[in-house]
Amino acid sequence: MKRIAILVSGGDAPGVNAAIEAAARWLAAHHAEAWGVRGGFAGLLAGKLEPLTPSAVAGIGARGGVLFGTSRERVLGEPDAPERLHRVWADNRLDGLLVLGGDGTIRQATKIVYEWGYPLIALPCTIDNDVPLTERSLGHDSASNRALPLIDAIRDTASALPGRLFVVETLGGSTGHLAIAVAFAAQADAVAVPEIKADAVAVGRKLAAAVEQRGYGLAVACEGIGRMADFCDAVAAAAGYRVRLTALGHTQRGGPPSAADRELARVWAELGAAELLAGAGGQMLAWQAGAIGTVPLPDVFAAPPKAINRQWYEQINE
Ligand code: F6P
Repeated sequence: MKRIAILVSGGDAPGVNAAIEAAARWLAAHHAEAWGVRGGFAGLLAGKLEPLTPSAVAGIGARGGVLFGTSRERVLGEPDAPERLHRVWADNRLDGLLVLGGDGTIRQATKIVYEWGYPLIALPCTIDNDVPLTERSLGHDSASNRALPLIDAIRDTASALPGRLFVVETLGGSTGHLAIAVAFAAQADAVAVPEIKADAVAVGRKLAAAVEQRGYGLAVACEGIGRMADFCDAVAAAAGYRVRLTALGHTQRGGPPSAADRELARVWAELGAAELLAGAGGQMLAWQAGAIGTVPLPDVFAAPPKAINRQWYEQINE
């Protein structure tokens, strides 16, 4: 019976558990075994594998987090890493590895395939949606959805007591994809992202105009723009109104995945499992022009950072 290991590395993302459940169930239905790696690449090199039977994964697709945990430890560069992986692979009689993670994880995964020769398929999973050569990453839709009811709630109090400005801080690290997606969907008055130096005076003027129109102004800012308190102070000074900051923080990364993420998780996980059972490897599954695609891992490795949606950025801020 063939054995496929499933590993998650980097920040968790809603939909990862749905992918684990789908892959494990698909493999069991096709007379193969799924094994979960506890704690990312560090857990893999330490041989921390556990069986993912259909009963072990039953219902986990509805939950955020990662059934067997993840890790940000970058262990593949350690001198004894190839030898340790070789031993774990042989001892556990593995036939393939399904890796779920973001940009950094997928770059690390390339080493396992192309330098060391193991069959591996990668699934882009990150709320940041910053993996190159794919329009979607698992978790991004859920994280965007998580922000919207909270912004709606801010609008209630904002319109009840006029004369204030609101800045909502999203996660996203040093990339603005998540902030732009949230700001566009929420129809915010402005958005600030790390890729473009924020003009706090212009944001302040735009928010002040919004106050004149309907009592309050609302901006979305990515956590990675620099010191958020300084940005808020500069916006307040330019607008002449008080700024109240709400940092969404890790509420955006947890919680149940959206329907769109659960669907994508299932489609990608089943395809990835099937490719590995068929002996294929070296690909990242992607979403391109509205359809499932595959990209050779070296292309992802060599790609420049994924560009933000400038059209939406300008439309929000105009
Ligand atoms: O996984 C990506 C991400 O959620 C970023 O949006 C965020 O900046 C970072 O992880 C937070 O990481 P940690 O949970 O390790 O603080």
